[in-house]
Amino acid sequence: MAEDSPVIAIDGPSSSGKGVITHKLAAHLGFHILDSGALYRLVGLAAKKQGINFDDEAALTDQARTLDVRFEPTRDPEEPLRILLEGADVTLELRTDEAGVDASRVAPLPGVRKGIGELQRSFKQPPGLVADGRDMGTVVFIDAAIKIYLTASVQARAERRYNQLKDKDISVSLHDLFQSIQARDERDMNRKVAPLRPAEDAYVIDSTELDINQVFAQVLSIVNEKLG
Ligand code: C5P
Repeated sequence: MAEDSPVIAIDGPSSSGKGVITHKLAAHLGFHILDSGALYRLVGLAAKKQGINFDDEAALTDQARTLDVRFEPTRDPEEPLRILLEGADVTLELRTDEAGVDASRVAPLPGVRKGIGELQRSFKQPPGLVADGRDMGTVVFIDAAIKIYLTASVQARAERRYNQLKDKDISVSLHDLFQSIQARDERDMNRKVAPLRPAEDAYVIDSTELDINQVFAQVLSIVNEKLG
């Protein structure tokens, strides 16, 4: 039953490696995935496409409540889910830094958070769920079986993002990335509703000095200990 399915909440700031760890863990356990950031990105994108102003909470709330979204699995380990908004593939559009910044502008609005609350909870299905976000362990799945808070210094996260983009031949300045990550942290951590912070019962992993395999090994050992 959905109520009995364990949830593993993975929260943390942007570019902390949550996405990769979520996908690796879900593949390892055969669990479902909730990319909650994608839902906020979708609200921002849908609003922009329809010319809705980011100050118009009523219209954005309506948008969030009625999002026509589908997640389809792919065979590409780099991009394991295709995201369709009103039937159109918006996966690449959603991954841009602009979409992330837009998401962090609509995310503080209580109506928007409430609007996608039910959609987020509907991802909790057997045999279990790995949920990636900012408030998975503190708000949406407060009774999650395991809560992990993944973080790293702003410098380390900016360098990772820089290298990811360089690998894709996208040229950006490290300094701009540093500032954009820092600004997003500020917005996510200092907002009134569901601010980014570790849950009291979260395992905090600082990956500043760790590579992704070392982080995954730590996460797996927590999961094996707790879920058996
Ligand atoms: O994780 P991602 O970078 O896709 O998230 C984009 C933005 O969406 C975050 O910076 C944050 O403002 C917002 N978000 C949120 N709550 C979540 C997930 C994302 O407020 N659970």
